Amino acid sequence: MSGIRSLLRQPFFSQPRALTGGGILLTLLLLGLLAPVITRYDPTSLEFGAFMPLSGAHPLGTTAIGQDIFAQLLYGARLTLLVGAVAGLIATTLSVALGLSAAYFGGWIDEAINALINVFLVLPGLPLVIIASAFLRGGGVWPVIIVISFTGWAWGARVLRSQAMALRERDFVQAAVASGEGAGRVVFMEILPNMLGLIAANFFGAALYAVLSEAGLSFIGVGDVSLVTWGTMLYWAQAKGALLQGAWWWVAAPGLGIALLGTAFAFLNFSIDQLGNPRLARGRATLPARVQRPPSTPIDPQDSAAQPLLAVRDLDVGYASAGGVVRAVRQVSLDVAPGEFLGLAGESGCGKSTLAFAVTRLLAPPGAVLGGSVQLMGQDLLALSGEALRQVRWRDFSVVFQASMNVLNPVLKVREQVYDAMQAHGVTDPKRLDARARELFGLVGVREQYLDAYPHQLSGGMKQRVVIATALALEPRLIVMDEPTTALDVVVQRQILQEIAQIRTRLGIAVVFITHDLSLLVEMSDRVAIMYAGQVVEQAPAHQLYAHPKHPYTQQLMNAFPPMTGPR
Ligand SMILES: Nc1ncnc2c1ncn2[C@@H]1O[C@H](COP(=O)(O)OP(=O)(O)OP(=O)(O)O)[C@@H](O)[C@H]1O
Ligand SMILES: [Mg+2]
Repeated sequence: MSGIRSLLRQPFFSQPRALTGGGILLTLLLLGLLAPVITRYDPTSLEFGAFMPLSGAHPLGTTAIGQDIFAQLLYGARLTLLVGAVAGLIATTLSVALGLSAAYFGGWIDEAINALINVFLVLPGLPLVIIASAFLRGGGVWPVIIVISFTGWAWGARVLRSQAMALRERDFVQAAVASGEGAGRVVFMEILPNMLGLIAANFFGAALYAVLSEAGLSFIGVGDVSLVTWGTMLYWAQAKGALLQGAWWWVAAPGLGIALLGTAFAFLNFSIDQLGNPRLARGRATLPARVQRPPSTPIDPQDSAAQPLLAVRDLDVGYASAGGVVRAVRQVSLDVAPGEFLGLAGESGCGKSTLAFAVTRLLAPPGAVLGGSVQLMGQDLLALSGEALRQVRWRDFSVVFQASMNVLNPVLKVREQVYDAMQAHGVTDPKRLDARARELFGLVGVREQYLDAYPHQLSGGMKQRVVIATALALEPRLIVMDEPTTALDVVVQRQILQEIAQIRTRLGIAVVFITHDLSLLVEMSDRVAIMYAGQVVEQAPAHQLYAHPKHPYTQQLMNAFPPMTGPR
């Protein structure tokens, strides 16, 4: 339920594309509905002269048999829209029902439905429509609608089926099944809300197909040409030689109508993407432009000993959401010295990852840096963009993220993925690449022969080591690690951490290490920073923080771990 509610809350119509699409569609709809008010002529009556030119009485002239073209255009909108809406609705309903059933039930049901989908997909659409409607000739608009719906559902069903199958495997669906939710509830409450965007897009796609098919069919004279639709208008204009008579508006008017309707559907279709993908939503709130403040402690470029490797000053980061700007990082200032191991701890949601994303320039909308500065080796990271940023990435700093072992591409050998970063920075000699890859695997403790394995042949711990190896590939000055080991068991976690600690002392790399596990940090870090509600509330050398935590929140965190010595 919450899924549906949050979908409805999306600021869909604040998008220019959605507005344009919705506006055009509404205008066409109103023109059709208000046709009797706008014009007093009947679209089929033959009361005027043939091929009358444009005039006040006949804004679009008359046809070869003396009908008012403007009236035809208005009334034609009605049927054209009806065909689009109804055929779109029937086709979408079929797609949803068959696609979801196939994905949910699996087994022979899936195979049967899939076979049906395949048959409909390989049948050439338009010829099929032509043959089918030839049998239904002259029966009004319904045969056309039915033929179009039954030929237009297969593609949508295929897309929805694969989307539903992917969703089925997702953790929240599995959890719902495990918690005993019935099939209906799982399909309608868990899976369907995640597909609403896709289903709506499917509807507009099908409606567009229907309008174009109707126009195409009518144009070649299949279907009921006694009806007034934009398609039949084109048919009669062609049949009566409108262009030869110089009555180009007879062709242009319905053609433009169809083009506009197609544009409206396509625009709506695009903007619906956002519905199914909240990450694309910018929110109603607009972020204030970044305020550039001078660093609070000016850094003297001459004094290299005092110059930190990474200097974060008064960093403010926020996310735009429908309810306003969520300020996730507030006024954070941090220094990391060359080769230093800085631990960053704090409760879930306090802004650790947001800080890491902002500092490494990986923050994606709706997130944005609102103020402050980030300097790495004296260069302003927040000012870099495009090629300059690409150059600095991985060469000067690299990142290892939460569950980052999922970043390995399952269809590529590990070797190619270790090569990637090096190749992106100009190392192309195969011998050097191979030598460096072996060296890196030695560093992180993975046997060399795994270079030629695929990711699925590696355990979770090995994958994580491979990811760390790629982060080390260009010997950056700084590695930011956001809970790189939380997905692993404690023993492997500790081993990997010890290796990270060794590597960084050997190579002199600075590490910013983020975790919930304060006891681990105290053991590993030179210095620890504690975050609470978006702010760094305490920074101290690890042993000092352990012995004398100052901030009440740090004291609480410390008390969360049972002491190893003293009375039980
Ligand atoms: N894409 C987003 N849109 C809106 N708000 C977000 C987004 N990502 C994070 N936030 C908010 O920013 C705040 C900080 O989140 P962040 O992920 O940085 O926390 P964290 O300290 O890394 O937590 P954890 O330890 O669970 O990883 C949270 O309140 C979260 O709700
Ligand atoms: Mg996080």
